[in-house]
Amino acid sequence: MNHIAFIMDGNGRWANTQKKARKHGHESGSSNVYNIFTSCVDLGINSATFFALSSENMYRSKEETDYISYLLDKSIKHHINDLLNNKVKFKVIGDITYLPISIKKTIEQAEQLTSKFNKFSLNIAYNYGGQWDIINAVETMIDDIGSFDNDKLPDYLSTGRNFPDLIIRTGGYRRLSNFMLWQSVYSELVFVDTLWPDFSPDELKKIINEYKLIKRNFGKVD
Ligand code: IPE
Ligand code: IPE
Ligand code: MG
Repeated sequence: MNHIAFIMDGNGRWANTQKKARKHGHESGSSNVYNIFTSCVDLGINSATFFALSSENMYRSKEETDYISYLLDKSIKHHINDLLNNKVKFKVIGDITYLPISIKKTIEQAEQLTSKFNKFSLNIAYNYGGQWDIINAVETMIDDIGSFDNDKLPDYLSTGRNFPDLIIRTGGYRRLSNFMLWQSVYSELVFVDTLWPDFSPDELKKIINEYKLIKRNFGKVD
């Protein structure tokens, strides 16, 4: 497997179980991202995408979305040296134009510093929507080549042609919630009840082992 993606749902409910405010759930969830990323690398997966905030999540309270953007900034600063030492390409996918300049700077700097790496990649999907991704790809393509070319569309998606082989959603719901609508075309989908802050390397390993047994056909016959 080359690319794994996570829909990290359940932070708010996790906070509820701890009788704490939702932001504590986001804090625990955020600190689980790098932990799970390193487990992916240990399991031989070179590319991982983590869905941190959807386009629709932007309609939550400003207090909640501001706190999630604060956590993004904080965790990039916390992990940038690790990313550099381990030669990991870092990217934020999604519409980040609305973010405060200081956070955009943190993101752009991390992206720039790690852009030369190409073996491992860590993507954070932030203010990301699958519909936005497709529309943005079409607009960018038309700006770039002046017309629409169906075959070239994937090159303009936020992931390029690196589609996820496996998408794991935590938190119990069985839906994509606007995540990678184009790219999920042949992804294996795994839904677990575990709330994201509790999702562990052991559970990941079990899922990967089961994934390895699946025969993927991509519409073809042998
Ligand atoms: C996922 O956790 C993180 C985001 C969507 C920002 P939620 O905040 O959706 O947590 P639940 O689903 O309410 O438990
Ligand atoms: C999906 O979770 C988005 C992320 C995990 C970032 P939501 O909590 O937004 O999904 P819905 O609203 O339950 O579908
Ligand atoms: Mg949720």
